[in-house]
Amino acid sequence: MKPTLLEVSNVLGLSKERVKQIVHDLSQSHPNLPIDKTSRQWTLGPKMVRSIFEARGVKIPKGKVVVFGSQKGGIGKTTLTVNTAGYLGAIGLKVLIIDSDPEGHASNMIAKDVEKRMSLPSLGNAFGENPMHIEDAIQQSRLPGVDFIQSSIRLVTFEKNLKENYPNPKTLMADKLKPLLEKYNIILIDVSPSYSLLSISSYLAANHIIIPTTPDVFALESIDLTIASIRDAAGKSESDKLNISVLCNNVVEHQKSSIDAMSHLMAKYPKILIPFSIRGSVDVRNSNNEGLLVFSTKNNELKDSFRRLALFVGEFSRKEKETEHREIGVNL
Ligand SMILES: Nc1ncnc2c1ncn2[C@@H]1O[C@H](COP(=O)(O)OP(=O)(O)OP(=O)(O)O)[C@@H](O)[C@H]1O
Ligand SMILES: [Mg+2]
Repeated sequence: MKPTLLEVSNVLGLSKERVKQIVHDLSQSHPNLPIDKTSRQWTLGPKMVRSIFEARGVKIPKGKVVVFGSQKGGIGKTTLTVNTAGYLGAIGLKVLIIDSDPEGHASNMIAKDVEKRMSLPSLGNAFGENPMHIEDAIQQSRLPGVDFIQSSIRLVTFEKNLKENYPNPKTLMADKLKPLLEKYNIILIDVSPSYSLLSISSYLAANHIIIPTTPDVFALESIDLTIASIRDAAGKSESDKLNISVLCNNVVEHQKSSIDAMSHLMAKYPKILIPFSIRGSVDVRNSNNEGLLVFSTKNNELKDSFRRLALFVGEFSRKEKETEHREIGVNL
């Protein structure tokens, strides 16, 4: 998956022609920057996109820690994490996924070799009595530009150990991340839905917590529970500093449950609701099962919503003038 000229021009707010000119100038001065002109649309490799950003003075985040988290299971945390990472890696950012969920779904989705990964170091090795340096647990993933630290099922048994060795959830993950902040533009932590020390300390280490929900009653109810436990763990003095957003995933246009859920979210979380939603489609499940990103599907609306999210996380999106929620039939 490589971004097209049109996508890059959208990110920059410039015409396609202007970006074509920049690409042309860059490829004259840097012959090692490849452009794929074979397809109908030009596609640009990560190095080229990054060079365009640099040439235009676009600010790229450094060491930004993002968690898609919820205490509700199965609402898309891992799917959103992996696809956001994949897109940002493809446009030239250095991205790290930390898989802190003992189930290891993210690790299985992005490992180069799922069988071999079992014999390699995991996040568990970075904690414990004689911890490995966290950088030594990093692996390259199958996604260009994306490294990861895999989880291990052993993390389940770690909870007691962690509580003894690292009693303070505020510093447990944040301290481990310190040496990585300079090396990566974006660090995404995939958390388990349980209220574990690892997941709570991941929330507290994040610059941005995005709470996904699906348009059903149980998921909607879990938003407040998740926010309350994060605020509680942060403590009164730190709670106001948390940067929390809510995102609706699996939204189906004109479907009553989606419309009702969006109205509810807009009324209840007007300040923290992300102004667009992620489309629901069987293509997501299919691409997950095949170990692919949604960007490999032909579903343009789906791809647009995931792309928009990745650009939002990378802080590339220009100010949203109006919300997209109107598009799914919700009257504002
Ligand atoms: N936008 C979507 N449209 C359709 N299916 C989706 C969408 N997002 C996620 N799914 C599907 O929902 C299921 C749960 O997704 P995922 O594993 O990402 O959730 P999770 O919150 O990480 O779950 P867990 O709590 O078990 O870690 C998967 O089968 C995934 O393919
Ligand atoms: Mg998950």
